Amino acid sequence: MKKPKIILDCDPGHDDAVAIIFAAKHCDILGITTVNGNVSLDLTSRNALMTAQIIDEDIPIYSGADRPLVAQRIHAPGIHGETGLGGPILPELKRKLNGTNAIQFIIDTVRAQDDKELWLVAIGPLTNIALAIRTAPDILDKIAGISIMGGSNFFGNRTPVAEFNIIADPEAAAIVFSSGAKILMSGLNLTHQFGVLREDIATIRKIDSLVSNFVADMLEFFATMYAEKFFGEFNGPLHDPCAIMTITHPELFEFAERNVEVELCGEYTRGMTVVDERGVKNELTRNVKLALNIDRSKAMDLLIKTIASY
Ligand code: RIB
Ligand code: CA
Repeated sequence: MKKPKIILDCDPGHDDAVAIIFAAKHCDILGITTVNGNVSLDLTSRNALMTAQIIDEDIPIYSGADRPLVAQRIHAPGIHGETGLGGPILPELKRKLNGTNAIQFIIDTVRAQDDKELWLVAIGPLTNIALAIRTAPDILDKIAGISIMGGSNFFGNRTPVAEFNIIADPEAAAIVFSSGAKILMSGLNLTHQFGVLREDIATIRKIDSLVSNFVADMLEFFATMYAEKFFGEFNGPLHDPCAIMTITHPELFEFAERNVEVELCGEYTRGMTVVDERGVKNELTRNVKLALNIDRSKAMDLLIKTIASY
């Protein structure tokens, strides 16, 4: 089967790095674009370059927005460490960015497609995607859709109701969710079903390759930080790979059409994805295909097999 074409917009970040590793085997990655998010733009860019170097994949990488459209920057060192890729001992970085004009790269690459098969995959704050849409609205008619890791249909993580990628740039998220594009949404309600456990990391460690050891060291750090900050027990929700798998392996998921709006004004709810779960026909448009459930064991087997294939 033909691999889906994607542009992967990310803020590495441990789960972003795992998403890159998975996507490099299952997608035709036309480019990676980086955005301010888990850590600052210079670090998310360094981490994307480092991941591409470690998996020895020659993927064009462009940096994009170094701050949100309106909001103040927020980062997540409490989960990803100060460098954004805490845990593994990293080699010397030999790779360089292809450019710092991610927005123009996205626009030019979409316009160069003669089919509607290119997916934009956004696994960080939506700043770059929003800027591309506003700069060149014509690209909306040329993409297959936008697969987003972000939001949730009930709880948040950065606040009680807001997930990090959305609250890191709510105005950008509002632009994307109201754009009219076909949107696949992998929110926390889904990604928390896909947590990596000690036995999964032990299986990955047995592979004993450069890539598998990099992933195991990353996930050990990530799941430990999540345990300390959130869950109490060792568990690392693999958020970002979900936004790739919903395109490459949709049979592993259950979806539902929903209306989703982004709250911009609430004192306690800013950055919340307000999902209409009423289940009755009403005037709201169902602008999102929301991933509700994942076949965790099949998805984890697939991920581990992919890591072992390097
Ligand atoms: O809330 C989880 C999301 O925020 C993930 O994409 C993680 O990498 C961070 O960007
Ligand atoms: Ca991310």
